Amino acid sequence: MKKFKFTFIIFMLAILFTACNPNDTANTNATIIRVSHGQPLGHPDNEGLLAFKDYIEKNTNGRYEVLIYPNALLGASKNALELCQTGALEFVICSASNMETFNDIYAIFSMPYLFDSEKVYHETMKNKEMMKPIYDSTLNSGLKVVGWLDAGTRNFYTQKPIRTVEDLKGLKIRVQPSPTNVAMMDAFGAAAVPMSFSEVYTAIQNRTIDGAENNEMALTTVKHGEVVKYYNYNKHQMVPDLLVANVSFLENLSPEDKKIFDEAIALCEKVEQEEWGKQTQEAIDTVKEKMNVEFIESDVLSFKEKVLPLHEKIVSQNKKIEPIYRAIQSINEKYREVKK
Ligand code: GCU
Repeated sequence: MKKFKFTFIIFMLAILFTACNPNDTANTNATIIRVSHGQPLGHPDNEGLLAFKDYIEKNTNGRYEVLIYPNALLGASKNALELCQTGALEFVICSASNMETFNDIYAIFSMPYLFDSEKVYHETMKNKEMMKPIYDSTLNSGLKVVGWLDAGTRNFYTQKPIRTVEDLKGLKIRVQPSPTNVAMMDAFGAAAVPMSFSEVYTAIQNRTIDGAENNEMALTTVKHGEVVKYYNYNKHQMVPDLLVANVSFLENLSPEDKKIFDEAIALCEKVEQEEWGKQTQEAIDTVKEKMNVEFIESDVLSFKEKVLPLHEKIVSQNKKIEPIYRAIQSINEKYREVKK
């Protein structure tokens, strides 16, 4: 059955790849690099990838052609990652939450209230040494993370206002498919409904779920703001998106090409992260002007109290996480000291 499923996927892919080149260029002699992600055109992830594509194609004089597949055209993150493992895709952008099924060290990113602020989050993510054991943890599965992309702060959005954690009680809330996200939602007192990103709009619309949680941009780019009434700032997570690569592809690059790809990855990160701040503000403005969604400042402390005990539980059950968790706490401390 598994073999059949795999053959079927490869067959469908072959059709997709030949039938739809999502980018207009076509250099028949070029080596094709395929990148999949789940966001629409114009989203910061896609903008970062356009810079990546441009840099590689120019600097290799067209020896490589990068094809970007947006909108989960080649499947939700989980499926795209499986294709990247087989080498059918060279790169995938997905949320760090999706990597938890490949190595549970990734549970770190789904720990609620891990980072005190965006400053701590950014400083942590920019620390390559700290990220190395995480990024290399899936080498045996054929995947390596090569870069990170900002995905903002996650908050609940719902049909009714969520002013304190008590308002979440019994609500069915979509989470990204990962054990830590389910544990977090249990601790909040809501019922976790794991599902892929592209299913969320319809699930809210037909009331299969009472809401979801994500950054502000989800309200506009994938239009979740059309089907909810409240966006509640409870700020429970900052989960980065990651650029994931197929390991054998990376290993087979010549040192010169490896350098060009590394530079293209750094550029992708830079462009995406700059776009992030700009587009988040634009999304908030659009929601205020054009959508029927009210922004609410929730009582963050009430949320924190419910889930902070999860930290020690996760760290004690997962020893790999401990040094990274402690290092992040000391960055938190550093800024708390400055504030005093
Ligand atoms: C964010 C993130 C995506 C992820 C999505 C989700 O938008 O950038 O990579 O897929 O959340 O909740 O699934």
